[in-house]
Formats: sequence, structure tokens, C-alpha cells
Amino acid sequence: MSLNNSKKPVIAVVGAGPGIGEAVARRFANEGFVVALLARTESVLKSIAHGIDNDVEKGTAHYYITDLRIENSVLSSFDQIRADLGPVSVLVYNAGARRVNGRSILDTTTEEFENFTKINLFGAFWSCKCVLPDMLVAGKGTILFTSATGALRGMPGLASFSPGKFGLRSLCQVLTREYQSRGIHSVNIIVDGPVDGKLIGGVVRRKWQRDGSEEKLKEVTSYLMQPSDLAETYWFLHMQPRSTWTQELDVRAMKESMFSKL
Ligand SMILES: NC(=O)c1ccc[n+]([C@@H]2O[C@H](COP(=O)([O-])OP(=O)(O)OC[C@H]3O[C@@H](n4cnc5c(N)ncnc54)[C@H](OP(=O)(O)O)[C@@H]3O)[C@@H](O)[C@H]2O)c1
Repeated sequence: MSLNNSKKPVIAVVGAGPGIGEAVARRFANEGFVVALLARTESVLKSIAHGIDNDVEKGTAHYYITDLRIENSVLSSFDQIRADLGPVSVLVYNAGARRVNGRSILDTTTEEFENFTKINLFGAFWSCKCVLPDMLVAGKGTILFTSATGALRGMPGLASFSPGKFGLRSLCQVLTREYQSRGIHSVNIIVDGPVDGKLIGGVVRRKWQRDGSEEKLKEVTSYLMQPSDLAETYWFLHMQPRSTWTQELDVRAMKESMFSKL
């Protein structure tokens, strides 16, 4: 039985947490999309989905418990999304994993390297393989990757993070070269600095409090990217006319220096 009888366009937000993932899901839901939310933690997914349903319309958001490190988990979630909602027209690969405090190559285990690289890169590869066939039949589709400064330059301590994000950037370029002329618009979005989500935003704000940085606490939006503002960028990229498609875009808050971590 379809859960999308009015055949609304479908966005899959892969790596849907309370930060960028939820904000992007909400932005597209407000434009008439049905939303498939993929992540591991059911309580978080449920609360995001209920929030969107309450604020937009019942039946707008659906969640699929998925571990992006496991190919079969990704494939079965996308099979279920297709059966429930129909073909995906927008894929947002937002999942990412890194240490808050870095660790040198010698201190990084193979297990951590593999786990994080699966989340940062393999999950995107599998997700693309799931949605591309329907997008190609439709002759259109949008694929947006959430990237990071670490995709552009390796930094000490990021051995288990940067290689995956570099790879994701490369995957996006390959996608563009292989499928852009068939209607698929792929964009790598370099999020260059901290986002005001629960985890990083919270860590940064607590540090400012400890340091007595009153000016920063008063001017949060000059220093921390707001998920809802980032979501505007995702929507803008999706809506770009096909005569002017962006392939890569970088964003940062006003008081963040350019490619600040380089
Ligand atoms: N936050 C920042 O300051 C910042 C800065 C630059 C770039 N970025 C990029 O932004 C993206 C994340 O955005 P966000 O920080 O705002 O996070 P978010 O959208 O709040 O949440 C992302 C979600 O990804 C899910 N995820 C992680 N590993 C997964 C796995 N193995 N399987 C399924 N889902 C998984 C997590 O949910 P579960 O744990 O429930 O699975 C998490 O809640 C990442 O690509 C990151 O590199 C973030």
C-alpha cells in the first residue's frame, strides 16, 4: 500500500539528525515533498518525523532505520522507501563521522578508519546506486552531498575522517561527469566551519562560556552556521535552472576565515 497516494516528490535524507538533516528535511517538506529519513537511532528519527508531520501535514515524514556501514541495510531501506513512497527525486547524503578530538595515524585503528570511511563514503556510493536508476528513467534528479573542510586538505588528527570526505568529493565529480548530461544534478557542499547543531554547537557554546567570550555568545550567527540557513542553500541548489548548475559550493559563517581549517 502506498504511503504517498498524492504522488508528492520524494526526498531521502540519509543521515537525518537534529542538525542539517532535519533542517533540510523540513525545508523540502515545506515545499511539498514527502520525506524519507534514514539513520540508526529510532527515538531521534521518530521525534524528527513527528515534528515535521505536526508542522507540515500528517504523513509527510517517514523514517527508515539504517546503518550506512552495511550495504544490505542501505539497500533494504531504499527498497522500502520505493515501495512506500515511490522513486526518490532528491537524495541528500548528509551522514558524516569524525572524532571531535583528533587522533594521529599511528593511534587510529583499522576498525575506526573502516567504520568512519564507510559512513563518510561507502554509504553515499550505495545510496547513489539505489536512486540513480529511477532518476535516469525520469531524466532528472538532484544529489546533494554534505561535505566539510576536511574534503579539501588533510589536517593532523583527521586520519579517519578526511580520506572519506576527499573520496566523497571525488564521487560527486564522477557522478557529474557520468550523469549530468542525463539530467542528474550533483553538488558537493563544503560546510566550512562549525554548525549550530546540538553536538558541535553545544561544544562551541560551552567553550565560549568557559572563556567568557560574551561577544561571540551574543553574535552566534556570525560564528556558527545555522542549519535552517544551510537548508536554504540546499533548496536553492535543487531549484537552480539547468542552464546554470553548481557542481561544488562552499559556505561559512561571517566571522569564519575562508577554508579556516586549512
Ligand atoms: N556539525 C558540524 O559542525 C559540521 C561542520 C562541517 C561539516 N559537517 C557535516 O555535516 C554532516 C552532518 O550534519 P550535522 O552535524 O548537522 O548532523 P545531523 O544532521 O544532526 O545528523 C547526522 C546524522 O547522521 C547519522 N549517522 C551517522 N552515522 C550513521 C550510520 N552509520 N548510519 C546511519 N546514520 C548515521 C546520525 O544518526 P544516528 O547516530 O542515529 O545514526 C546523525 O544524527 C556531516 O556530513 C558532517 O561531516 C558538520
